[in-house]
Amino acid sequence: MSLRIRSTRLTVPQIVSRKGKDKIVCLTAYSAPMAALLDAHVDLLLVGDSVGMVVHGLPSTVGVTLEMMILHGKAVIRGSERALVVIDMPFGSYERSPAQAYDSAVKIMQETGCQAAKVEACEGIADTVAFLVKRGIPVVGHVGIRPQAVHTDGGFKTKGHTIDERQQILADARQVSDAGAFAIVVEGVVSELADEITRAVSIPTIGIGASSECDGQVLVVDDMLGLFEWTPRFVRRYASLHTLIDESVAAYAMDVRNAVFPNSSETYAARKT
Ligand code: KIV
Repeated sequence: MSLRIRSTRLTVPQIVSRKGKDKIVCLTAYSAPMAALLDAHVDLLLVGDSVGMVVHGLPSTVGVTLEMMILHGKAVIRGSERALVVIDMPFGSYERSPAQAYDSAVKIMQETGCQAAKVEACEGIADTVAFLVKRGIPVVGHVGIRPQAVHTDGGFKTKGHTIDERQQILADARQVSDAGAFAIVVEGVVSELADEITRAVSIPTIGIGASSECDGQVLVVDDMLGLFEWTPRFVRRYASLHTLIDESVAAYAMDVRNAVFPNSSETYAARKT
């Protein structure tokens, strides 16, 4: 018996081959219907641990668990068929040792069917990335602002304003790339540093609040659709869903209060027997 496994999804080598060529388009997604809407337009869907803040109302990504990532990851896989799906490894699921990271990544990949896992740069990350990649787990690194380090950093502050900080972040990016990651998210750094990282590493860089010179861009989808009243400077809003939802719900509430919803075309009359 021969089994032909066909996948319509973009592959890791296809993404890597885009370095310095066609830009890589990435957005976050946390649900099946949103993944279905984005799938035709993006190359990568990132099930980011930003889900904790965006969907669950947490103050940071620190409270996000493996179970939450798996639940949202499964939904995104169900809703998409073309994009390569990357899932964030949440805080506490990979930092202790390469073996811990391996166990968490295997659980994520087996339970969701995603293609890759993302880790933030931290102490020992090069060993962890190499350990995962050698065992068949494609890894995306994440340097610059590391949201999971919000408490040691004292907030979400842009990086690369001092020489020391620039050297540290460049070293993080080189380590992650040399260890075998296939792409790196570069978040919230001065654009000169993002450019330098993009030149220095052989894998694609995906910028967020970084530089148009990065090999690709990622945004939190709810931010770019304007679901919130406030968005950070680096977000370009392509819609104003906040206003649309506010106006739509106000109109619905008025219709209900005035008893003009539902009308006769929106209700069921008894069949004549
Ligand atoms: O969690 C997330 O959404 C991310 C992006 C901001 C890159 O890591």
